[in-house]
Amino acid sequence: MNTAERLNGIGEYYFSKNLREIEELNRSGKNIISLGIGSPDQAPHPEVIRTLHEESSKPGSHAYQSYKGSPVLRRAMADWYRQWYGVELNPDLEILPLAGSKEGIMHICMTYINPGDLVLIPNPGYPTYQSAAKLAGATLGSYELKEENNWLPDFSALKELIQTKRQGQEFVLMFVNYPQMPTGQLPTLKLFEQLIAFAKENQVLLVHDNPYSFILNEEPMSILQTEGLTDQVIELNSLSKSHNMAGWRIGMLMAKPGHIENILRFKSNMDSGMFLPVQLAAAKALSLPGSWYTGVNEVYRRRKKIVEDLLQGLGCHFSKSQAGLFVWARVPEGISDGYALSDLLLYKANVFVTPGGIFGTAGNQYIRVSLCASEEKIQESFDRIKQAGFIKSKHHV
Ligand SMILES: Cc1ncc(COP(=O)(O)O)c(C=O)c1O
Repeated sequence: MNTAERLNGIGEYYFSKNLREIEELNRSGKNIISLGIGSPDQAPHPEVIRTLHEESSKPGSHAYQSYKGSPVLRRAMADWYRQWYGVELNPDLEILPLAGSKEGIMHICMTYINPGDLVLIPNPGYPTYQSAAKLAGATLGSYELKEENNWLPDFSALKELIQTKRQGQEFVLMFVNYPQMPTGQLPTLKLFEQLIAFAKENQVLLVHDNPYSFILNEEPMSILQTEGLTDQVIELNSLSKSHNMAGWRIGMLMAKPGHIENILRFKSNMDSGMFLPVQLAAAKALSLPGSWYTGVNEVYRRRKKIVEDLLQGLGCHFSKSQAGLFVWARVPEGISDGYALSDLLLYKANVFVTPGGIFGTAGNQYIRVSLCASEEKIQESFDRIKQAGFIKSKHHV
């Protein structure tokens, strides 16, 4: 049967296909180690699991929940923003719990985009920005981030892009994400100030997607640290990476009350709230002390060391100051692009790393290696790749 036109140009999500392909290779007798997806393999805090357990044993826990999320969770989200980002938010009016930041990206597009409106998308960047914008009928404006510019936006190029693509009074929405995925680039307050100024000057609605600020980063930042909430900015955040709760599907959207009301008009027609015990366990997670984040990051730091040795051995070029769950690295001379290197490692060493081109054309010369595998698995990947003859330097782990 023909699909709706809105699906034209929309494929299945890359990792949805990719995980199936790896499963097929494994069924045919291979034993692939995947350093692909950024799904934390460590467990949530035991207190979080205990809360889920206890709350789900209570008879009153099983009904439909509020479309705006439990007040307990919204308060915990506001407290978390105050404690870690120094940002004051009204939990009743300015926070909307979500089933993950990914969901929020779609809701924002469906709430604000008319066919032909312009959506600015980072290249390289999280593929969902592009597909959500396309599904909403937007015209896409891809803005390139370059290594020589520390993966920061070039504001004069952005202005030109808007001028070229905006024909009349079309609405413009811009997705931005720092710490940036896939490049690992950290934000600065100056960058956030520049983005806010740019959004005001050009009447752009800025959506800052912020799920990585607690991973391998000493100083979590929010774009709301600049001027707080204004009509021009929405921030998304998530417990997926910071609290090892990717499968639980808990995110949040921070915006002025008018935006929250508008987005709720769409969202409340899409879902019927989240399971209360999940929300209360998430509130518990948000109240964890600093030692939680330190513990999570110690594990990632050890893994990252082996990944860096592996990349060095392959002759890849990368920055050591990356934040987030990945290491982003340029392929060595002599290998045509990230797809070629990814194929080589998959078929000759049974190790999967993500080709950078799936995040946009500006990622073609790169690969992205996930830190969401045990040290043993990462070490084994190193050994397999070495055995296959790809480790050139003397580096050893
Ligand atoms: C940049 C970025 N935004 C959002 C998400 C989705 O996060 P969530 O699990 O909260 O939907 C991801 C997940 O990989 C991501 O990399």
